[in-house]
Amino acid sequence: MHVLLLGASGRIGTRIANELLNRGHAVTGVSRSGDVDGVDDPDFSAVAGDATDADQIARLAAGHDAVASALGPGDDESPEVLVEMLDAVVDGMRRASVDRLVWTGGAGILNVAPDTRLIDSPEFPDEWKPVASAAIEAYGLLEDADDLRWTYVAPAAFIEPGERTGEFRTALGELVADEDGESRISMEDFAIAFADELESGDAVHEQLAVGY
Ligand SMILES: NC(=O)c1ccc[n+]([C@@H]2O[C@H](COP(=O)([O-])OP(=O)(O)OC[C@H]3O[C@@H](n4cnc5c(N)ncnc54)[C@H](OP(=O)(O)O)[C@@H]3O)[C@@H](O)[C@H]2O)c1
Repeated sequence: MHVLLLGASGRIGTRIANELLNRGHAVTGVSRSGDVDGVDDPDFSAVAGDATDADQIARLAAGHDAVASALGPGDDESPEVLVEMLDAVVDGMRRASVDRLVWTGGAGILNVAPDTRLIDSPEFPDEWKPVASAAIEAYGLLEDADDLRWTYVAPAAFIEPGERTGEFRTALGELVADEDGESRISMEDFAIAFADELESGDAVHEQLAVGY
């Protein structure tokens, strides 16, 4: 597959790039500067692009089989930029006639009990609410884009750099937590689940949750 990866320079994006390349896919990795550190493969090319600009997405996505995203708001940006990015990505993909999108989302939308999302649970930290709310608002745009074969891949509550174990669980729409209620995943294992879904398309139009 030839994949356009948005957010390739980010912490999660770098792991997704390496996972896809190790599986033999070709990856075009986008960052605003055009620089991507930590990815070195003959089937990888780094390009500059702004994910809030639908014209640029249309130009970049052309000729690719799928668009993958590990986009996140910059440190100095409002989390709401996530909504702007998803809107531009959907618009640009339609113009480029690319219909497969795998998007790294947030855990806040996932259910922790019937009709209770993680973001609405009492333990959810206040400082995470702005970015979690923006991710949920962005998800709303995906729900209106069923002409695309999208999947919203949501990490566990905590996602950190770690080991590539290959041992994790997935669920549809529900937070994955262990028997102690801890919800965690390494970025390396998240990248495996992300690449599995990109290849299989088993969870089109679903929230695919990943955790231990
Ligand atoms: N538990 C959770 O739910 C959880 C936890 C962590 C992350 N996440 C999700 O995962 C996403 C990625 O996390 P991360 O830690 O990997 O983020 P990160 O390291 O900050 O990476 C963000 C990426 O987005 C790119 N980017 C930002 N604005 C852009 C723009 N306008 N155009 C093109 N590229 C742009 C950045 O590229 P440049 O800055 O190089 O241009 C970078 O590659 C988060 O936004 C969030 O949605 C979820």
